[in-house]
Amino acid sequence: MLASLKLILLLLLALGFAQALQHNYIDEADEVADAELLVAAANSGALWPLPQKVKISDVSIKLNSFSFQITDAKESTAGQSCSLLQDAYRRYFEYVFGNAKRHEPGKSRRTGPSELTELQVWITSPDSECDGYPSVTSDESYELMVDQPYAVLKAPKVWGALHGLETFSQLVYEDEYGAKSINSTTISDFPRFAHRGILLDSSRHFLPIKVILANLETMAMNKFNVFHWHIVDDPSFPYLSRTFPQLSQQGAYHPYTHVYTPADVKMVIEFGRLRGIRVIPEFDTPGHTQSWGKGQTDLLTPCYSGSKPSGTFGPVNPILSTTYEFMSQFFKEISTVFPDAYIHLGGDEVDFSCWKSNPDIQKFMDQQGFGQDYKKLESFYIQKLLDIVATTQKGYMIWQEVFDNGVTLKPDTLIHVWKGNKEKYQSEMANVTSSGFQTLLSSPWYLNRISYGQDWQGHYKADPQDFKGTEAQKKLVIGGEACLWGEYVDATNLTPRLWPRASAVAERLWSAVDVTDITDAFNRLSVHRCRMVERGIPAEPLFSSYCPHEYKGV
Ligand SMILES: *[C@@H]1O[C@H](CO)[C@@H](O)[C@H](O)[C@H]1NC(C)=O
Repeated sequence: MLASLKLILLLLLALGFAQALQHNYIDEADEVADAELLVAAANSGALWPLPQKVKISDVSIKLNSFSFQITDAKESTAGQSCSLLQDAYRRYFEYVFGNAKRHEPGKSRRTGPSELTELQVWITSPDSECDGYPSVTSDESYELMVDQPYAVLKAPKVWGALHGLETFSQLVYEDEYGAKSINSTTISDFPRFAHRGILLDSSRHFLPIKVILANLETMAMNKFNVFHWHIVDDPSFPYLSRTFPQLSQQGAYHPYTHVYTPADVKMVIEFGRLRGIRVIPEFDTPGHTQSWGKGQTDLLTPCYSGSKPSGTFGPVNPILSTTYEFMSQFFKEISTVFPDAYIHLGGDEVDFSCWKSNPDIQKFMDQQGFGQDYKKLESFYIQKLLDIVATTQKGYMIWQEVFDNGVTLKPDTLIHVWKGNKEKYQSEMANVTSSGFQTLLSSPWYLNRISYGQDWQGHYKADPQDFKGTEAQKKLVIGGEACLWGEYVDATNLTPRLWPRASAVAERLWSAVDVTDITDAFNRLSVHRCRMVERGIPAEPLFSSYCPHEYKGV
């Protein structure tokens, strides 16, 4: 009965497409995807991002909330004591069964034949890293064997176990009566790139903590592992600094309601850690610093109009020793607040006009023998900043301009490529890597840019190792980041704008290089999008279709 109703629904849907196709507003890519749509809606248990090696058999096994449990394997080194894992077991139990009641310990479990009763999680390395932080060198690999009567998830470290739990939850599907099933499966998996990031911008619009946490949760569903927190910029300074509280007091949109307190920041970092996600803050200087100037007098360069100060300010003033004293103290605090070895120092889009107008700067330029080359002044500043940060931070990331302008960089600096069309960024990636630097790509993944149609396909096709270079050069590409700049984004539209479009980037950065079939991707991503929706994430649709469990609002 239910099945025939579904069939009628599908037929109605198909009729709808036939009609829609008569209109010209559906572009070519949509038509290709269209043919696959009915398959997508019917198929479940689809994996995203696709694991490196998967073998799913036709043997299906039932599981139910009363008998199934996720447990530590006896051999595991992590044991009951790893709260990160216990927390993840609870989370994934709920993702698999919704709010269904879980088995109460002590009660006897009713188990039927051909039923999956247990997922045993086995951390194989002596150091599980349960209490540590993920890093760029973390082992994220795992192996998953689903068979009756129990499934085994093996990982050297907790980070791989977290990914394996996500994959396990994706394998579970609902039959037409709503019963949960999983097929007997073998998976061996690891990421193609070590750095798989999302940039969120909390300066142009303040993002409530709740939205940031929801995003971290969704990142884990997509196996992203870096939250690049573009926390301050020209419009506002919401970071509450213990050393310089006046920065947010004066520079935030509101000194109490629109700030991130030390407790907020701690919560974001811990929430990320529990999901294997690093939090890398960006404190962009010397440009993009208008909001810094409100609370820190003499930090920014006074601009001149003719022979008089105009009352406006430009980039950080690079000629004062007070600037460097401030930066030393500020970044010392940052290194104690954010545990990650890396920090993003920005360095993009420095506007030279204010520096040019200022007579003191001109005098300094003469003394230093910089002539009229303001790139040299910028380099002078960045050089000093890098020296300061090198004393407190293991590694740093910078936007590509710093490299382009010829600043001397420590050999382990990570260059973030963000400019240009395909031709431009490919030659930049080639240049950066031929100079021996590690690099990250973002140019094709500015998800704040939107257009009509299935733009995820373009994001999906871009590949960070697709440029002219040697094998050694390709190895210097450690990943990429999808960026969501905040001019037109706040809590009202962040999540649907980012997801599932960022999922396309997630698969490019995780799965094997030859996973490029756009039709297969469409089918799996459609299911994955519905999965995010079912988990309460308002991820926008890819195209005309439906989800078994539609989004019901908040
Ligand atoms: C799972 O098993 C069922 C039949 O038992 C089969 O129809 C289905 O195709 C299998 N799923 C996958 C993804 O192979």
